[in-house]
Amino acid sequence: MKIFVIGGGGREHALCWKFDQEGHEVFCAPGNPGIHEVAHVFPVAVNDRKALLDAANQAQPDLIVIGPEDPLIAGMGDMFREHGFAVFGPDQSAARLEGSKSFSKDMMKRAGIPTARYQSFSDPGAAKEYVSAEYGAGRSVVVKASGAALGKGVILCDSAEDANVAIDGMLVGMEFGEAGRTIVVEERLTGQEFSLLTLVSGQEILSLPVAQDYKRIGDGDTGLNTGGMGTYSPVDWVSDELVRKAEDEVVRPILASLADLEIEYRGVLFSGLMVVDGEPICLEYNVRFGDPETQSVVRRLGDGFAEALLACAKAEAIPEVPVLDGAVCTVVVASEGYPGEYEKGRAIEIGELLDGVEVFHAGTAIVNDELLTSGGRVVAVSATGADAEEARAKAYAGVGGVRFQGMVYRKDIGL
Ligand SMILES: Nc1ncnc2c1ncn2[C@@H]1O[C@H](COP(=O)(O)OP(=O)(O)O)[C@@H](O)[C@H]1O
Ligand SMILES: [Mg+2]
Repeated sequence: MKIFVIGGGGREHALCWKFDQEGHEVFCAPGNPGIHEVAHVFPVAVNDRKALLDAANQAQPDLIVIGPEDPLIAGMGDMFREHGFAVFGPDQSAARLEGSKSFSKDMMKRAGIPTARYQSFSDPGAAKEYVSAEYGAGRSVVVKASGAALGKGVILCDSAEDANVAIDGMLVGMEFGEAGRTIVVEERLTGQEFSLLTLVSGQEILSLPVAQDYKRIGDGDTGLNTGGMGTYSPVDWVSDELVRKAEDEVVRPILASLADLEIEYRGVLFSGLMVVDGEPICLEYNVRFGDPETQSVVRRLGDGFAEALLACAKAEAIPEVPVLDGAVCTVVVASEGYPGEYEKGRAIEIGELLDGVEVFHAGTAIVNDELLTSGGRVVAVSATGADAEEARAKAYAGVGGVRFQGMVYRKDIGL
């Protein structure tokens, strides 16, 4: 079939690569230099709706897959559906699960989904009173900007003073602009985290294999949070039973709750989970594929992934997608300085790759026929292997062939 992918990061490269592997004809906007090798690229920005619609009308795809959250939150799913296209990606009404943490928490509460206790605020005084009561009761809090804040709007607090500073920053200083006009103050929990990616076709679901991501920039989980520095799959500590539990307690109930509001979900639901005393607690939902996770997950799937997404887009029964034996390890290579300031425009060399190794592009550009860095996370080297050790060794061998000035990467992905 013909598939049109919207987006231009590592996630979209991985999706386009997978669709191409399955023998489909792939279109992408705006794409990136890596995507060029597997898709017809329309050089159109993801927020240029008119041009995207023109591109879709030209390509006449059987399926449109919207990669990033911003267009989904802005209603791009609705737009393409109104024009008769089969779209993988929820409508604006359902994308609020990611676009508004306050809405999302209220939905979780209504549905009885296990989640951290919380309250939403737009008044700093009321928020501080709540914080004071929480610390008085021996609990610690997390302060979150309700709106989409590029993964930077969550502040883990060690004291009421920390929390008050965060509250003032968001509600008075408007540090996150509109996204922080409403905040969620919730109990700070501790536990191991994993994310569950679940394909959703109305009330029908199919969870994909779990991938563990590494969010911090530094080895041993040190330093600042990033968009993700690497992933591996499978994840031994996440049992099938834990996944079933998360499906029953976190995924199905939210879909039922949306259905009560006459909202039908068609796309992927990403549940951000923390395991506390063996129980999956929902920290958040996202309404799209996780960028680093996807780069490993698609490599663990056999043929039929695109068919499964098409079924979701059409609200039909989701066909099984075979999960391959073996393991995958994906290592992100970033620009020195990321997630802070970094230089762009540095020439990239990608060496010979072993069998089963792919390089997904994220922050690259071609200028005068030369491949240059153009972002913080530049490429990700993704390798399959018979087991975790082999996948890891092959991924790092691939990283060894990547060269650009100031490249940095974590050495402990999959360890
Ligand atoms: N209630 C909580 N207790 C402890 N840590 C949390 C809590 N909520 C979020 N976090 C931490 O902050 C990270 C980001 O929070 P999340 O709600 O996923 O927001 P976003 O991904 O939109 O930034 C989580 O992955 C987790 O590590
Ligand atoms: Mg998150």
